[in-house]
Parts: sequence; structure tokens; C-alpha cells
Amino acid sequence: MKLFIDSGNIKDIEALVAIGIIDGVTTNPSLLAKEPGDYRENLKKICQIVKGPVSGEVTAIDVAGMLEQGREIAKIDHYMIVKVPLTRAGIQACKTLSSDGIRVNVTLCFSAAQALLAAKAGATYISPFVGRLDDVGTNGMGLIKEIIEIYNNYDFTTEVLVASTRNPIHIVEAARMGADICTCPPALIDQLFNHPLTNIGLDKFLKDWEKSQAGKA
Ligand code: G3P
Repeated sequence: MKLFIDSGNIKDIEALVAIGIIDGVTTNPSLLAKEPGDYRENLKKICQIVKGPVSGEVTAIDVAGMLEQGREIAKIDHYMIVKVPLTRAGIQACKTLSSDGIRVNVTLCFSAAQALLAAKAGATYISPFVGRLDDVGTNGMGLIKEIIEIYNNYDFTTEVLVASTRNPIHIVEAARMGADICTCPPALIDQLFNHPLTNIGLDKFLKDWEKSQAGKA
């Protein structure tokens, strides 16, 4: 399973990419709005750092506007993926951009029916928001299971990109279900490393080693 960072913060992205386990980055207008500087330059920098797919989202809500913005976003760098919302206009824009060879991530997906439409429109990625579904008392990971089942029934090449992840259980469940990608905020990626028994174990190993070496110096 590929692991993407869900952030527009250059420092956080640099620190995580340096570890060597990151495959891409997703951004959205809310995330980019938090960062200083020109968003196009920031996206370009992120592409140079991660050297993998980087999603940048359109803010237009009509087809013509989405196409214009989508083509501009695609020009920023060859790693750029154009993100469009799962609306009628978004699906139409996805079909046109995908047919022109531009890779599209269809975002704000909350149902299996919506995911089916995105696949039919040639989306490269579908982004179901699991955490926001959990927030309203619906099983977010249940939606991932349904989408994977539907995509596996046909020849769809659209990759399932689990978004709005909030805890390590989302990541583990996504991997068990065979999701293609999880995108995670930096703090969640940090959590994936942690286990108290690792810390306790390492502490004991180091103390035992130190004791054994003391008399030998
Ligand atoms: O990038 C889209 C998605 O991951 C947003 O997550 O936490 O704002 O629901 P969240």
C-alpha cells in the first residue's frame, strides 16, 4: 500500500520524505490556505521533494472553470494530479481531463455510487473520506470495503486513496482490505512508528549494554 502525506507544509513533508517511506502528497484548499507564499510555487516545491504524485485541487465549481484551473495545475509539474470534487461538474471535468491524459483525483467521495461514477469518468484516484463519515456515525472503512469490491468486479484502473484518516486503525484496516493508498496527516504518520513496548525494550537493551561495558573500559 502506498503512503501519501496529507499536508501542504513543506517542512513536515521534507522531514517525512527523508525517512524513505513516502510515495506522494495530497493537498486541498484548506491545507494550502494555511501555508505562506504562492500556492503554485509551494506545489512545485512539494513535487521536487517527494518526486511522486502530488494532488492540487481546483476551486472552480463549473466545468469550464475546473478545466481551465485543472490544466494550469497540471502544468505546474509532471508529478501534479488534478483534484476535483465529486459533483456533476467534477465528474464531467474528470472525464475530459482524463481523456486529455491529465491524471485526476476525485475527492469528497462519501458513497459507493459516487465512487462508481468517478471510475467510469476515468479517474486515476478516488478519495473516500473515512474520518468525516465516522464523524457523522457512519462506518467510513465500510465504504472502502464496498468500493474495493465494486472496482474488483470490473476492469476499472482507478486507485482507492483512503483519505480523511484519523488514527492508525484506519491505516491498518485499509491495508488489510487491499486499498491502494492511504493519505495521512503528518501527526498520524508519526503515530504509526510508536509502540510503548518498543521504547521499553530499547531502553532495557541500552541499559543492559551500558552496565556490561562499564567494568570493561
Ligand atoms: O485531503 C482530504 C482529506 O484527507 C481531509 O481530511 O481530516 O479534513 O477530514 P480531514
